[in-house]
Amino acid sequence: MDEQVTAVIGRRFSCRRYGERPIEADKRRSLEDFLAARTAGPFGTPVRLALAAATEEDRRALKGLGTYGFIRGATGFIIGAVRRGPRDMEDFGYVMEEAVLCATALGLGTCWLGGSFTKSSFAARIAAGKEEAVPAVTAVGYGADGPQEWLRRTSGGRRRLPWEELFFAGGFGRPLAAEDAGRYAVPLAMVRLAPSASNKQPWRVVEAGGRWHFYLRRTKGYGKGSLVYRLLGLADLQRVDMGIALCHFALTAGELGLAGRWVREEPGIALPDGETEYIASWAAE
Ligand SMILES: Cc1cc2nc3c(=O)[nH]c(=O)nc-3n(C[C@H](O)[C@H](O)[C@H](O)COP(=O)(O)O)c2cc1C
Repeated sequence: MDEQVTAVIGRRFSCRRYGERPIEADKRRSLEDFLAARTAGPFGTPVRLALAAATEEDRRALKGLGTYGFIRGATGFIIGAVRRGPRDMEDFGYVMEEAVLCATALGLGTCWLGGSFTKSSFAARIAAGKEEAVPAVTAVGYGADGPQEWLRRTSGGRRRLPWEELFFAGGFGRPLAAEDAGRYAVPLAMVRLAPSASNKQPWRVVEAGGRWHFYLRRTKGYGKGSLVYRLLGLADLQRVDMGIALCHFALTAGELGLAGRWVREEPGIALPDGETEYIASWAAE
């Protein structure tokens, strides 16, 4: 990407109306090359991504797959499959979001669609095997929204939780002010702009001992464990959301020259409730 990742993240929004304009061959090739080069997430789970042209059938199929909101006129879909494993959903979220940002950098609109794709026609198109899951797909194409809609949906127009509910210093309950986050204020701001299923924003980050500990605060009655989730066989989308947040954080830190790596070493910080679970930590180097 030639453009700064912070600018790309700032421009991305969930585009639900697409125009007729096809994706030019050279852009399609750039996107396909990018997808082909993404083969695993930060925790090592194998992921495969492919670009598929939208068909008339897809529109009907999407309705029955647990996705919400209406997608009109998508040109194509980025379909992804991930090998089942302990950190599969996070790795999938991370890699698919890299693809979303690549598409955004190319001037395309995108929208994550989470559902029960594993046994769908989408999974068949990527030839997903028994050992793989297809937790979500991403609609892609040229957006048909005007500048006003774009303004409403990006930057200041976004509905996001305030900083003090998301980021903490030393422990939960001790909010971290943006002014006190130093150079990491920018990666955190980019986490806050991340897309998440139903905009639930389940990411929580606690800074302690030079590490940034990421937690998933599950939304009650949503996702894993809820009736709808079980009936529809939905993927654990809030873990996918966590992978997306890790992607925004790591790409931004990388751009700012803040070296670090992901580790899974539970720091023993007291959890605020039974809904919060540890995911991973960014160890600054
Ligand atoms: C894992 C995941 C699944 C999603 N599923 C859908 C979906 O099925 N239908 C839809 O219209 N939007 C879907 N979204 C988009 C979210 O609703 C959107 O990211 C959120 O409302 C924030 O808005 P923004 O992306 O414009 O910043 C999904 C997002 C994620 C990350």
